[in-house]
Amino acid sequence: MGDPRKTVRAGIVGSGFAARFHVEALRKVYGLQVEMTGVYSPTTQNCRRFARETGLTPFSDLDSMIAASDIIHVCTPPSTHETIGIQTLKQGKHVVIEKPFTGYFGSGDDTFSGDTFNRSTGLERARRSVQNLLKAEAESSGQICYAENWVYAPGIQKEKEIIEKTGAQIIWMHAEEAHSGSHSPYYGIWSFSGGGSIMGKAVHPLGAVLYLKQVEGLVSQGRPIRPVTVSARVHSVTRSDRYRDLGFIKRKYTDIEDFGAMHVVFEDGMFADIFASELVLGGVHNWIEITANNHRTIVNINPNDSMKSFNPRGAQFDDIYVVEKIETKEGWSNISPDEDWYTGYQAEIQDFYHCAVSGSVPQSNSLLAADTIRTVYSAYCSAAEQGKEVKIPQD
Ligand SMILES: NC(=O)c1ccc[n+]([C@@H]2O[C@H](COP(=O)([O-])OP(=O)(O)OC[C@H]3O[C@@H](n4cnc5c(N)ncnc54)[C@H](O)[C@@H]3O)[C@@H](O)[C@H]2O)c1
Repeated sequence: MGDPRKTVRAGIVGSGFAARFHVEALRKVYGLQVEMTGVYSPTTQNCRRFARETGLTPFSDLDSMIAASDIIHVCTPPSTHETIGIQTLKQGKHVVIEKPFTGYFGSGDDTFSGDTFNRSTGLERARRSVQNLLKAEAESSGQICYAENWVYAPGIQKEKEIIEKTGAQIIWMHAEEAHSGSHSPYYGIWSFSGGGSIMGKAVHPLGAVLYLKQVEGLVSQGRPIRPVTVSARVHSVTRSDRYRDLGFIKRKYTDIEDFGAMHVVFEDGMFADIFASELVLGGVHNWIEITANNHRTIVNINPNDSMKSFNPRGAQFDDIYVVEKIETKEGWSNISPDEDWYTGYQAEIQDFYHCAVSGSVPQSNSLLAADTIRTVYSAYCSAAEQGKEVKIPQD
């Protein structure tokens, strides 16, 4: 629990989709006081609108907002995470970095294409970016809080308890994140996003499987069990001339894949299969199945059947939030009555603020972030060779 007399000052970078759910979650933190310092975003108009709507103070300069805060939330495109993260840590402040942690965003020249660049270069550069962030953390009094909400989803936390109390060995996990396409204009352009479905979506289920093997390792051997190899395939379905577009699935991608599959092997020889895509109708599809030597668990983050509702006329639910990325509200819906809770957003922010006050390390921390990115870019190397097994760097 925190200390209700302590005040932690929060600054938000970015004024888009993620910035909003961070502010919502900050309003519900308990056990300590959160003071929202303000918001900084280079799109001045959006920043002012966001500030007006949330009651936050707009900052025109990031350094001043960092100086006035204890924790900075990086809710910006992945290509900016390294710079903002290091800028924050250099001032000795904690930094919450949204997924994906960091990556490779190209050579910076106009001829760069996510379809054709050398994947080994991508892995090396992403690895260096990870190292830069880890070095900045090691030299700072602040720490990295990696915003992987799947770690904090109630089902994953319950599975953590099962592993810890029964000493389970996880043999195989399969997991998926998919929906029918992202809203962000930056998402489909590799130089902003650092990749497609594997980078933008698979990082969530990958984060969960890496986390659960960490938990198992801490129980069984006093240190995390880490991923050692990956084999992967990617496809770009909606950019294919042979794809027949009927208007249901988004397809505004410039140079990223819209499907990815990864087979990850851990140091104990056990494994996980992860799928991610922009191709699935019916709302966001986030699930994980865990096969252990003493139990089996299925966690349906979204959809789940905690609430089902039949609506004979779609328009009736126009101003009712049903579930993320659902295409229609007509007929039966699996309503998520408290989606932020099911997806782990609330518990994630609570853990980060508790750690800021207590000095403990968050469950979703820089090791998890680093292993996720090393696995992602090793997966891109594998996919370039049609699924050849690739070693994941351990540094
Ligand atoms: N955990 C999740 O479930 C989840 C969901 C959505 C997005 N995200 C992540 O959150 C991050 C932001 O995504 P989003 O959907 O909010 O995008 P968005 O496009 O809605 O918003 C991005 C914001 O970043 C700002 N920005 C751009 N460049 C900047 C810079 N150099 N410095 C400061 N601000 C800058 C933009 O002005 C904009 O306000 C991404 O890393 C994304 O992957 C996570």
